[in-house]
Amino acid sequence: MTTTILVTGGTGTLGGHVLPLLTEAGCRVRVLSRNPRENKSGIEYVACDLLADDGGPDLDAALDGIEVVLHLAGGPKGDDVATRNLIAAAQRAGTVRHLVYISVIGADTVPLGYFKAKFDAERAIVDSGIPCTVLRAAQFHDLALKTVRAMAKLPVVPAPGGLRWQPVDSREVAARLVELTLGAPAGRVPDLAGPDVYALGDLARGYLGARGKRRPLLPVRMPGKVGKAYRSGVNLTLEGATVGTRTWEDFLAERVA
Ligand SMILES: NC(=O)c1ccc[n+]([C@@H]2O[C@H](COP(=O)([O-])OP(=O)(O)OC[C@H]3O[C@@H](n4cnc5c(N)ncnc54)[C@H](OP(=O)(O)O)[C@@H]3O)[C@@H](O)[C@H]2O)c1
Repeated sequence: MTTTILVTGGTGTLGGHVLPLLTEAGCRVRVLSRNPRENKSGIEYVACDLLADDGGPDLDAALDGIEVVLHLAGGPKGDDVATRNLIAAAQRAGTVRHLVYISVIGADTVPLGYFKAKFDAERAIVDSGIPCTVLRAAQFHDLALKTVRAMAKLPVVPAPGGLRWQPVDSREVAARLVELTLGAPAGRVPDLAGPDVYALGDLARGYLGARGKRRPLLPVRMPGKVGKAYRSGVNLTLEGATVGTRTWEDFLAERVA
């Protein structure tokens, strides 16, 4: 395959795993992120803020001649706006025949702004008329690590009751996205979650154990509709999901021990 694939967010955690897989598959890659970088073999970098000035002329230039887009760029806020700007530019370009998007499990059920923005982005893509593939993934091990590291800095680690995650390895998400990107548009595909469900306190315990640290855990109750949603497990995909193979313990053994 010699087509150039535009990967937004190719400099992030997920993007770092995706790029070598795409180049190994023989693809040329154009990476879009906010910060300029030197091009390297098979990878061209373009700087564009998807949230500034509707993406501006830089976004039109990034889409020039592009048929396939893998849209990974994201942050805590504004994924809906960024995605709408990307779609508008793709429609202006008129060449895009496949738009692949990474969303999050619980996009339509967890009452938090990040999830709502991901759901709005999904809908904008589906409604755009551009042939698309949408994969929802669980929280990555990398995010779980960042979360429990911050929790473990406290002398007593808060353990929100009922808050469970099914963390997945970002390399497995990357491999699935590359497979989807090189395939035909498939619409919404089965979610991808990790092999096991953990209470947040258990993720913290695993991390503390791997670091040889001891901290008391303090059970806390998450209040309001967010707590209620998490306690009912709406962020988990217990049925119908594709399940990864790498566990939290595998990840900790590699990254922390
Ligand atoms: N982390 C998780 O647990 C998880 C779970 C499910 C789904 N996802 C989704 O997976 C995607 C990638 O996640 P990640 O953990 O790899 O994120 P990450 O490490 O924070 O990387 C985010 C990427 O997006 C780019 N970016 C952010 N805002 C941008 C903007 N306004 N314009 C252009 N580029 C922008 C960043 O590059 P610059 O900083 O250079 O601009 C970076 O390359 C996100 O869409 C996220 O919602 C993540």
